[in-house]
Amino acid sequence: MSNSSLLSPAVEDLAQHVAAGLSRTPKTLSSMYFYDDAGSRLFQRIMELPEYYPTRAEFAIFQEHGAAIARALSPSAGDEFALVELGAGDGAKTKLLLKELLRSGTAFTYAPVDISAGAMTGLVEALNQELPALHVAPVVSDYATALRELRTRPGSKAVLFLGSNIGNFGPAERLDFLRKLAAPLTPADRLLIGFDLQKDPRRIRAAYDDAQGVTAAFNLNLLTRINRELGADFDLAQWQHYTDYSPLNGAVRSFLVSTRAQQVHIDALDQTIDFAAWEVIHTENSYKFTLPQLDELAAAAGLRVVATFTDPAADFADLVLATQEN
Ligand code: AVI
Repeated sequence: MSNSSLLSPAVEDLAQHVAAGLSRTPKTLSSMYFYDDAGSRLFQRIMELPEYYPTRAEFAIFQEHGAAIARALSPSAGDEFALVELGAGDGAKTKLLLKELLRSGTAFTYAPVDISAGAMTGLVEALNQELPALHVAPVVSDYATALRELRTRPGSKAVLFLGSNIGNFGPAERLDFLRKLAAPLTPADRLLIGFDLQKDPRRIRAAYDDAQGVTAAFNLNLLTRINRELGADFDLAQWQHYTDYSPLNGAVRSFLVSTRAQQVHIDALDQTIDFAAWEVIHTENSYKFTLPQLDELAAAAGLRVVATFTDPAADFADLVLATQEN
């Protein structure tokens, strides 16, 4: 597929993705590739923006309901368990939960999984300093690898998938992902999943188009990454970030817009791609849900809702889920 047999497997994977995505109509790239080290740092800044409410809303849930969430996740027999977190990032919210579990004397190991080695190193260092009693077993990998690893992990587990990460999947992928998450669970295991809820459409749209332009930089960083890793010549001055929100299907869609007709050469693919003026690359979906939709989704994935926690403004929900057998 690519021009060079010397590409590392990760860069080869990006090359194949870019080749396939830019040959589609409309052109598409996955937001999964936003998170190189620069992208992960930009996402940390997004989480602090005044417009980006999901992180604060989920933090409020953990502050208010941390003890109840910790109880709902711990095996009732008091057995030791693994707390596996997919897409851990900086773990700020999780620290509240970790403190609760340590305080209650629960025996557990925290296994954060993140695709960014930089983010993971920062998290492990911070945890070693702040919570020296915590057992941490970090994993640097993508979700697919982590899901395979879950199947073979012995013992009880609680799997966290916070921060509305599930909103970045389309409807079919979301159901498929939940079914894969559910497959290795025993009746004693638990899932904790964060979902952004539908609300004032203007607030949602503003969260993805902030006044400081951090979200724009985050989206455009994908082109910088392709320039660096695949030897492309995207001229960032000729691209814009654009986002819309549809209250009909609850989807925020983000795009990179070509502001003029242009050609981009990608060395690693030995390919030149044409972009028309105002043509877009669709780079991200961020779905927002209603609580009844979440009940339906859980049932479709063979899961039952053990508990639902929301913040006082009902901006966000964290659901504790288990297999239907229990
Ligand atoms: C990681 N994910 C849940 C974020 C979201 O809200 O969809 C990524 C993001 N994209 C733009 N702003 C934040």
